[in-house]
Amino acid sequence: MTNTTRTETSAGQTESRSEKSTFSFLCLRDKIAVVTGASSGIGKSIALALADEGIQVCLVGRRRETLEEVAKLSHEQSPLSRVYCADLTRDEDIHSLVADLERNGGRVDVLVHCAGEIHHADHASALLADFDAQYRANVRGPYLLTQKLLPLLRRGPGQVVFINSSNGLRAQARTGQFAATQHAMKAIAESLREEVNADGIRVLCVYPGRTAQTLSTRAAPAGRGRGCHGCSIIENTEDC
Ligand SMILES: NC(=O)c1ccc[n+]([C@@H]2O[C@H](COP(=O)([O-])OP(=O)(O)OC[C@H]3O[C@@H](n4cnc5c(N)ncnc54)[C@H](OP(=O)(O)O)[C@@H]3O)[C@@H](O)[C@H]2O)c1
Repeated sequence: MTNTTRTETSAGQTESRSEKSTFSFLCLRDKIAVVTGASSGIGKSIALALADEGIQVCLVGRRRETLEEVAKLSHEQSPLSRVYCADLTRDEDIHSLVADLERNGGRVDVLVHCAGEIHHADHASALLADFDAQYRANVRGPYLLTQKLLPLLRRGPGQVVFINSSNGLRAQARTGQFAATQHAMKAIAESLREEVNADGIRVLCVYPGRTAQTLSTRAAPAGRGRGCHGCSIIENTEDC
């Protein structure tokens, strides 16, 4: 994942190519991957990288039209990739998603948790409603989805990837709520790993710093979301 964020530099392009050959070596073709947050940013990049390897990618997010565009981009290499519209804060959407995945393939080889929300605010002014929203999207939703997909993951056995954050290792000012959700995600991943490793399911956590991604170009209310930044910040793993 880190190699992917460095593709904007000439050195990064070289790294990206060597990562691709590693993926191929792992024989991911004919596998089924579920990627949440596939409509933009890191999740979209991961989804397209997996599709490039011929993997059937299940693209999960709330914005159907945006997901359809990602699906179009992936279809040349991965014609079976599909869009799954789901809001991870809604249990009923997660249940429908799982039922759909059971009907279509009945197996999950790679589950990538990349959907997420972030609200920046200091403790004095942070809104509880924002905390609840981040908890539901970043912790409760991925927890429930993983729990419900465990039977399908056992069939591979598959692997679960949690895209966490450098804030999941060390919180910074104005990220208290978000960092708390990322620490929770880390705890869930570590506990899950202890439980399912013996069955062959692998659990991986990635802790990226800030990327040059789409959220920075979207309108965000003052004091919320990530601000614009230059490419120089991409390799600073202390930022989110
Ligand atoms: N970019 C960074 O600098 C950075 C740094 C560290 C960690 N991370 C982590 O990496 C992940 C991706 O970040 P990003 O910057 O690439 O994000 P992004 O471009 O803002 O994309 C967020 C994704 O999450 C989906 N999403 C959000 N809430 C959802 C919900 N309730 N249900 C379903 N999907 C939902 C969005 O899809 P829809 O809008 O279509 O639902 C979108 O695809 C996040 O978990 C973030 O915490 C990012």
